[in-house]
Amino acid sequence: MENIISDDDSGLENPGPEAGSEASGIEGDALPSEGRNLVPDKESTDEESFVCEVRRSKNRSQGAGSVEAAPIIEVINVKKSYTLGDMEVLILHEINLTVREGDFLAIMGPSGSGKSTLMNLIGFLDRPTEGKIIIKGRDVNKLSDKEIARLRGLEIGFIFQTFNLIPRLNALENVELPTYANARPGVDSHKKARDLLKLVGLEDRMHHKPSELSGGQSQRVAIARALINDPSILLADEPTGNLDSKTGCEILNMFTKLNEEGRTIVMITHDPDIAKYADRVVLVKDGIIQNQDNSESR
Ligand SMILES: Nc1ncnc2c1ncn2[C@@H]1O[C@H](COP(=O)(O)OP(=O)(O)O)[C@@H](O)[C@H]1O
Ligand SMILES: [Mg+2]
Repeated sequence: MENIISDDDSGLENPGPEAGSEASGIEGDALPSEGRNLVPDKESTDEESFVCEVRRSKNRSQGAGSVEAAPIIEVINVKKSYTLGDMEVLILHEINLTVREGDFLAIMGPSGSGKSTLMNLIGFLDRPTEGKIIIKGRDVNKLSDKEIARLRGLEIGFIFQTFNLIPRLNALENVELPTYANARPGVDSHKKARDLLKLVGLEDRMHHKPSELSGGQSQRVAIARALINDPSILLADEPTGNLDSKTGCEILNMFTKLNEEGRTIVMITHDPDIAKYADRVVLVKDGIIQNQDNSESR
């Protein structure tokens, strides 16, 4: 297994792949992520002048994310309100959104527009006040708490702006942690966690605690953790928000490659420069979707 990242933002050792190793990051490479180098080239650019180049494979599977692909996330007439004192405040108004298998969708909007609230609903971290959320054909309103926890644990990987790693656990333990609650049968979780850390270029950081990792390395641990149960959906809330441009670009390149392998990605951002790397952008303002794009309200 090779790293998928060849450079980091730590200013410490370079955990990059061995010179002369297979050039598996070449565009058009059809290997699964475990064999690929997602960011093969070194980039040594200043923050101000840095331009993120996201490399896209030419052999993205036909139909992925297109209108022919099956819906994987359906948000139907969803409203969400919070009760503050004796006032009910409507945060999301009548949201309708369909995300299809293989989509790379950005949900963009200013701070406070309801993006995280929407992501939390899609990820079953919260329930809608009204309306339906359907993930892989299963209506969240009809599932027990236990079924929801299982669906979330196996089918959805979360990535947050602040990484949300457990400080007292090392990188390997953080990646393995979700499998204590939910795991796929027959998978050696410990080996899988190690393989995923290698995949994100952290082979030499497995036993480091979060406080000993840079922001970019922490987010790579969080991505490995999100992938541990091989979810079909990745939900990322401002995943590059705490990272410098170059490190953010590495993360975006990883998302692109993961999407090309078939994972559906929903990325939240307030930043148009980040949203443009997605295939489809939905704008949210004041809890209302401003453009339906091809998201087909129903
Ligand atoms: N648990 C909560 N209770 C009350 N209000 C909340 C809660 N969570 C979020 N809000 C409010 O909902 C609005 C949208 O928040 P959020 O979804 O976090 O926006 P965004 O992610 O777009 O910045 C904000 O006005 C926020 O204050
Ligand atoms: Mg937010």
